[in-house]
Amino acid sequence: MRIPLIAGNWKMHKTVAEAEAFCTQLKEAVAGVSGVEVLVCPAFIALAPVAKVLKDSDIKLGAQNMYWEEKGAFTGEISPVMLKEIGCHYVILGHSERRQFFGETDDGVNKKAKVAFEHGLVPIICVGEHLEQREAGETNNVVAGQVRAALEGLAQEQVQKLVIAYEPIWAIGTGKTASDEDAQEVIGLIRNLVAEMFGSDAAQMTRIQYGGSVKPGNTAGLMAQPDIDGALVGGASLEVESFMGIVKAAK
Ligand code: 13P
Repeated sequence: MRIPLIAGNWKMHKTVAEAEAFCTQLKEAVAGVSGVEVLVCPAFIALAPVAKVLKDSDIKLGAQNMYWEEKGAFTGEISPVMLKEIGCHYVILGHSERRQFFGETDDGVNKKAKVAFEHGLVPIICVGEHLEQREAGETNNVVAGQVRAALEGLAQEQVQKLVIAYEPIWAIGTGKTASDEDAQEVIGLIRNLVAEMFGSDAAQMTRIQYGGSVKPGNTAGLMAQPDIDGALVGGASLEVESFMGIVKAAK
């Protein structure tokens, strides 16, 4: 049984004070909700303060990125050791915005995923196609290539814990969600590929989220698909009411 994971990727939003206030409210709103795992991924500087607010709650904490070295002369970077120490459970890797604006590559995502596991962090690996690729009928090839590269060399036990987020780039922040069927088609293909690489037992345990303009109103339809195990939410994760609407619809 895969428990759905509803994750808020706050991107570059919320100051420390705003993040603390949000999580204080969220903690109350989530109390008593079961059958769904709830995760927030604030900006790096808000992680430690938010960890304090969330202690004694079931809400998990995740980072939006990390570097693959433990320490050293890498100005501006954050290491897996640092994330683990402050209580992060998850780390988002290879988000399309990082690939587009910060030169992240499949190879880098693969290195980071391996190192994340070595440090007890669970990676959420993001994949997804551009609009031109979808229109050219290349979606399946593009996504399969990203998944193959990101998962290369991982162990079966790691893949069982792994989260993959399918986020079609044309659906991010645009209000255009993939249809339930289109999202299921690509996510089903990802699960088949994971099965081909690591065996079907492992693939049945890997959680695969959908991301891209997820809102309270479109969550239930997406979550009803057999292979969709939660959502990676941007804009709608920034208000407690809309985020909770998604959490409740995912149950
Ligand atoms: P939106 O929900 O704002 O479309 O963002 C999706 C996303 O990129 C989450 O990682």
